[in-house]
Amino acid sequence: MTPKEALDQLARAAAELRNQLEYLREIGVNELTARSRPPAARYSAKNEVPLADSTGEHAASPISISRGKQQTFFSEIGNPSNGTQDSSLESIRADIGECTRCKLSQNRTNIVFGEGSPQARLMFVGEGPGADEDRTGRPFVGRAGQLLDRMIEAMKFKREEVYIANVVKCRPPGNRTPERDEVSTCEPFLFRQIAVIKPAVIVTLGLPALQCLLKTSESISRARGNWREWNGIKVMPTFHPAYLLRSPDKKRETWEDLLKVMQFLLSST
Ligand code: URA
Ligand code: URA
Repeated sequence: MTPKEALDQLARAAAELRNQLEYLREIGVNELTARSRPPAARYSAKNEVPLADSTGEHAASPISISRGKQQTFFSEIGNPSNGTQDSSLESIRADIGECTRCKLSQNRTNIVFGEGSPQARLMFVGEGPGADEDRTGRPFVGRAGQLLDRMIEAMKFKREEVYIANVVKCRPPGNRTPERDEVSTCEPFLFRQIAVIKPAVIVTLGLPALQCLLKTSESISRARGNWREWNGIKVMPTFHPAYLLRSPDKKRETWEDLLKVMQFLLSST
């Protein structure tokens, strides 16, 4: 590595760290110590083992999760193929084609399929593309997406290590909530993406994603922070980052939800 490359790498790491610290400061987390137990521990379900490393210390503080450990738990989980399953993300994308199955196709610029690691242990499901996503064909790249990036980084993940998708893959006009027929037409593709990726945890962002996966009439305020399941996969409902931009006081609750997710992912490695 040349000195310039080393400096660039250092600058990128510093920028990433600053980002994380900014998110944490915004949500009111001012002190981080390697041994502090995360608030999530208070809520852990009975059947979940509290996180402890071999010395008996709690290893669950956001900043005590080393890159090394993180890479281990990503690389160990493969995507076992039984040869008869729904093949690949590419084939799902191919089946969507130049979709005209619902009326959202009339106004879209790009289909926003989703992106990230096909081996992701952590998957986020949002509502549907906004203007920036429609323009670029990529999920969560606008203002809400930048907040999601900070949330992902605060969880000690890289964006490319997780998978990000939406309930509907075309932008609803004026960013309105997707309608029932649009969701029912599009959701089979999301379900196939989940089945191929087989994440350990799905975080649903906002009400439409919660309703799509859990077919519940509960409010997001009631449902958030409580573990659910979709076909054997753990689901953690939380607020949508666009909502957090409007109601920053809710960031603290979302952070608690994300801590539960981090804790589960570490304990189930
Ligand atoms: N909001 C969403 O729900 N999804 C995106 O991809 C962007 C914004
Ligand atoms: N309604 C939503 O759709 N999402 C939120 O996060 C909050 C309210």
